[in-house]
Amino acid sequence: MLPFLFTAGLLTAGITNAGTGRALPANAPHGYTPQEDDCPSDAPTIRLASSLSDEETSWLRSRRQATLDPMRDLLGRLNIRGLDTDQYINNHRNNVSNLPNIGIAVSGGGYRAMLNGAGVLEAFDSRTPNSTSAGQLGGLLQSTTYLAGLSGGSWLVGSIYTNNYTSVNDILAQDTSDDDSGDIWQLENSIFEGPDSDGIQLFDSVGYYATLVSDTDNKDGAGFNVTITDYWGRALSFQLVNATDGGPEYTWSSIAEQGWFSDGSAPMPLLVADGRAPGQKIVSDNSTVYTFTPFEFGSNDPTVYGFAPMQYVGTDFFAGETSTDQCVTGFDNVGFVMGTSSSLFNSFLTTINNAQTAGLFSSALQDALTAVLRTIGEDDEDIADYPNPFFGWRNESNPNSGDQQLTLVDGGEDLQNIPFHPLIQPLRHVDVIFAVDSSADTNASWPVDGSAPGWPSGAAIIATYERSLSDIGNGTDFASVPDVDTFFNLGLNKRPTFFGCDASNLSSPSPLIVYMPNAPYVYNSNVSTFDLDYNDTERNAIVLNGYNMATQGNGSIDDQWPTCVGCAILSRSLDRTGTDVPSVCRDCFDQYCWDGTTDNSKPDPYQPNMALEAVDVTSGARRWAGSVVGAVGCAVLSGLMVM
Ligand SMILES: *[C@@H]1O[C@H](CO)[C@@H](O)[C@H](O)[C@H]1NC(C)=O
Ligand SMILES: *[C@@H]1O[C@H](CO)[C@@H](O)[C@H](O)[C@H]1NC(C)=O
Ligand SMILES: *[C@@H]1O[C@H](CO)[C@@H](O)[C@H](O)[C@H]1NC(C)=O
Ligand SMILES: *[C@@H]1O[C@H](CO)[C@@H](O)[C@H](O)[C@H]1NC(C)=O
Ligand SMILES: *[C@@H]1O[C@H](CO)[C@@H](O)[C@H](O)[C@H]1NC(C)=O
Ligand SMILES: *[C@@H]1O[C@H](CO)[C@@H](O)[C@H](O)[C@H]1NC(C)=O
Ligand SMILES: *[C@@H]1O[C@H](CO)[C@@H](O)[C@H](O)[C@H]1NC(C)=O
Ligand SMILES: *[C@@H]1O[C@H](CO)[C@@H](O)[C@H](O)[C@H]1NC(C)=O
Ligand SMILES: *[C@@H]1O[C@H](CO)[C@@H](O)[C@H](O)[C@H]1NC(C)=O
Ligand SMILES: *[C@@H]1O[C@H](CO)[C@@H](O)[C@H](O)[C@H]1NC(C)=O
Ligand SMILES: *[C@@H]1O[C@H](CO)[C@@H](O)[C@H](O)[C@H]1NC(C)=O
Ligand SMILES: *[C@@H]1O[C@H](CO)[C@@H](O)[C@H](O)[C@H]1NC(C)=O
Repeated sequence: MLPFLFTAGLLTAGITNAGTGRALPANAPHGYTPQEDDCPSDAPTIRLASSLSDEETSWLRSRRQATLDPMRDLLGRLNIRGLDTDQYINNHRNNVSNLPNIGIAVSGGGYRAMLNGAGVLEAFDSRTPNSTSAGQLGGLLQSTTYLAGLSGGSWLVGSIYTNNYTSVNDILAQDTSDDDSGDIWQLENSIFEGPDSDGIQLFDSVGYYATLVSDTDNKDGAGFNVTITDYWGRALSFQLVNATDGGPEYTWSSIAEQGWFSDGSAPMPLLVADGRAPGQKIVSDNSTVYTFTPFEFGSNDPTVYGFAPMQYVGTDFFAGETSTDQCVTGFDNVGFVMGTSSSLFNSFLTTINNAQTAGLFSSALQDALTAVLRTIGEDDEDIADYPNPFFGWRNESNPNSGDQQLTLVDGGEDLQNIPFHPLIQPLRHVDVIFAVDSSADTNASWPVDGSAPGWPSGAAIIATYERSLSDIGNGTDFASVPDVDTFFNLGLNKRPTFFGCDASNLSSPSPLIVYMPNAPYVYNSNVSTFDLDYNDTERNAIVLNGYNMATQGNGSIDDQWPTCVGCAILSRSLDRTGTDVPSVCRDCFDQYCWDGTTDNSKPDPYQPNMALEAVDVTSGARRWAGSVVGAVGCAVLSGLMVM
């Protein structure tokens, strides 16, 4: 069976790009430096998390309507025999809350996660050539309400949204031309080297380091605490944001001002980070999980249970009100937000003192990083520092209510490496979550000796399930999932599996989970988290692998797969409207739903085989063969092993 040969198509298809101008340089002309100004007469406040914001509620009215036609087209193509899906959508058009409400969650795991997730999004995106032909899933993204990303997954989501909601296909197609200007995801240049000087950036490596330092200095000079995450976020932007110097003036809140977002043409992007005070450790049942939406920043957890307006994050608040008449804007730089969600990776920058990387860094950057490390200490080098919007807020439950600063870390640090959290909030009424898991849980000695490293085990979804059972879950009921050994023994970590199929087995409404674990379809996409540079061939192979995971090899692994995706989408909705489940869907659920069976015997060594014919990525050598793997030894980085 042949894999869907998408790479070849990419190279030859004459794809038009999305045009010029990206996101909004809302903080121009101040670059990366946040600005203080008189607060608006309608001063920003913190609100309780007991409802959705007015902005989100009103946006949802547009978005849910905008998903109906793409959803009708998609379901029509998925061939759900025994249900007239056109009729079904039409019958419920007047009450969209009856119809499916879709979320997508893209896990962390560095570039592996960004690229594997990109393949899934490409498969789900009707803008991808041929993605709306038989056996394909194009249009699922257009039918989706929320798209969540965490850490490496936040790079994917953030990059698309800050670049005028471009498509993965356009990003990859862009760099097939000789002209490098406008290319992003240039991963052959590691974060240490910086961009090619003929690319979208103006600088050579020296200029690149200098701008990381001066931007961060300017923020520091304006009175804000800076951490390594500032340098990291700025560096990331050079790979992810298509604007001069990685768009220092582009803000996360400005996404809300973009026509394609405000008119409901795109899903809402949600990025996730965890709260962690210096010196603390967190696990899933004691972390406070924060979400960045284009409108707001805050947490639904019973600890903080509040949200601040995104545009004014950086402002000093006390007890829910601004504490002066001065409001800060421009703090929510897109790279800083993505860097916060992925802050564990900023430890890469601190490897500067080892022999392999030392020569690549400017001494100014080395000095700057060393100075930051002196004040925050190595164990907390992964922290991002925010003026705490929740200072004096909910003292009775908020562990940070007494602190003027709020320190956030990588969203995967509490082991919930898939950003389910914002999607399982009952207020959002999500029906189905397509969950892409690119965690690297296995290693040569785990789950048993002789296993292949770098593949998921189910640990990330288990962490979310366990959290839902503890007090901090706060009503976020979550599908039951089995233990890790069962994941291996039943192969649930290797093929798509539906969890929570039977809504009546849950005590309150919660989404059906379509779990999509990273596995080898056409390429061994278990690349090391420490791999910091990828040539375009390998980059595209990982994306292609994700594409084949999403489509199950263009339906060649199971020609019922597209139908089963449709059944998963419809499941909760059919339940709500009391509609008979077509027998083709019952067959799907028999095949793809976890039925509650467990087998916690010791698994065999995990050695997954390629499901389809492998793509060839050879010829030529990698430009930066000496990876930093051997050099990395600090405590924080060991956390990267699973991410
Ligand atoms: C799309 O499908 C057509 C017809 O099968 C094929 O000729 C073309 O190469 C495909 N394009 C891509 C980008 O795969
Ligand atoms: C980046 O922007 C340039 C010019 O604004 C545009 O031509 C190019 O297509 C963009 N690149 C991507 C990947 O969207
Ligand atoms: C953004 O993308 C849309 C759709 O592809 C395109 O029509 C528009 O010109 C782009 N806008 C800017 C400012 O680049
Ligand atoms: C929409 O349908 C739901 C049941 O799914 C019902 O509770 C609600 O009242 C309906 N709304 C309208 C406006 O008919
Ligand atoms: C969270 O739980 C872990 C494991 O029990 C513990 O080590 C840590 O101190 C706890 N952190 C907080 C903030 O309570
Ligand atoms: C969630 O937590 C808040 C704050 O403690 C509380 O008011 C609310 O009732 C909780 N919701 C559920 C469903 O438990
Ligand atoms: C900066 O961090 C220190 C602790 O390291 C804290 O006391 C102070 O409030 C922070 N300042 C701001 C502006 O957040
Ligand atoms: C909440 O805590 C803050 C800071 O510790 C304190 O100043 C404030 O008075 C407290 N508020 C209430 C209502 O107890
Ligand atoms: C392998 O993974 C297990 C489980 O996460 C972990 O305890 C162990 O330290 C890992 N071993 C190595 C060599 O990374
Ligand atoms: C149904 O719920 C029970 C109790 O939460 C759980 O043990 C069981 O695994 C669930 N069954 C399925 C198929 O999810
Ligand atoms: C990836 O997994 C395959 C087996 O599925 C294994 O042969 C290979 O060594 C692993 N690659 C890396 C980089 O660990
Ligand atoms: C790209 O990288 C892969 C993986 O390291 C390597 O096997 C391949 O030879 C490289 N291809 C080119 C064209 O450089």
